[in-house]
Amino acid sequence: MLKNSQKLKINKEQIKEIKQSWRSQYGDTYQEGLHFLIEHLPNISKDIKEIVDEIAKNKPVQQIIGEWPFYDGTYVLDENVLIPRPETEVMIHHIISHVKSCKSILDLGTGSGCIAIELSKIYFNSRVHGVDKSYKAIEVAKKNNHQTLNKVNFYNSDWFSNIEDKFQLIVSNPPYIAYENAKDKSLMHEPEIALFAKNEGMSDIEHITLRAKNFLELGGRLYIEHGHDQKNKVQKLFKNNGFRDIETFKDLAGKERFSLAKL
Ligand SMILES: C[S@@+](CC[C@H](N)C(=O)[O-])C[C@H]1O[C@@H](n2cnc3c(N)ncnc32)[C@H](O)[C@@H]1O
Repeated sequence: MLKNSQKLKINKEQIKEIKQSWRSQYGDTYQEGLHFLIEHLPNISKDIKEIVDEIAKNKPVQQIIGEWPFYDGTYVLDENVLIPRPETEVMIHHIISHVKSCKSILDLGTGSGCIAIELSKIYFNSRVHGVDKSYKAIEVAKKNNHQTLNKVNFYNSDWFSNIEDKFQLIVSNPPYIAYENAKDKSLMHEPEIALFAKNEGMSDIEHITLRAKNFLELGGRLYIEHGHDQKNKVQKLFKNNGFRDIETFKDLAGKERFSLAKL
């Protein structure tokens, strides 16, 4: 009884401290972030001072908590990987709704592994590879692999440099933000390698599209997530590289966000 009341008292104090820290950082805005943080407080293995410091440094709530829901899973994450985004969930949902069966999947730029792992759960007989140039991202992705029975093969690769097989489905959410937008404060806690690309954000998409047909089986599909203003460039690239049945789809905000092409 006493123990319970002590625990309650400590929690109340902690919550008060967190609320104060939050208020001095965000004022009365972004209350949903605060609620999410408080809700997850019992699961965070950090002391209260560390959490308060992180709030003061404007660290995203997802990184403070250290995990984040994505589609049908929950992904551990840190400052070495992109925080999985709802627009990527829309792409996953589209794939799952339109691709009935698939024997082999390659996720390029896997980050936390969220795309590869979610697809491995659905296409549970499929061979799934997830690659990233960042060794630290691969470490995070491997930590998330426990939630699928159809284990993903995660390894380092600079796009296709270490890929030897062909796949029926290649999917990628590559960096696509132009360096000119690098000043956006909301992005400063995520890795540069996950966000920015040269040539107005197009250089990685170009690299992938130019080589993808060498790693796709005939009839295979290429899905690429991109910026809302990059549709025309992506479609042109697909067309110039021998792809057919090119289509672009919108995210939940109604922005043209990912494109599909078939070989
Ligand atoms: C936008 S993040 C996507 C992460 C994850 N797939 C997701 O959707 O949340 C892009 C990822 O591409 C990786 N990346 C950047 N350049 C790369 C390259 N040359 N080869 C392989 N991966 C790369 C980054 O490390 C990062 O994990």
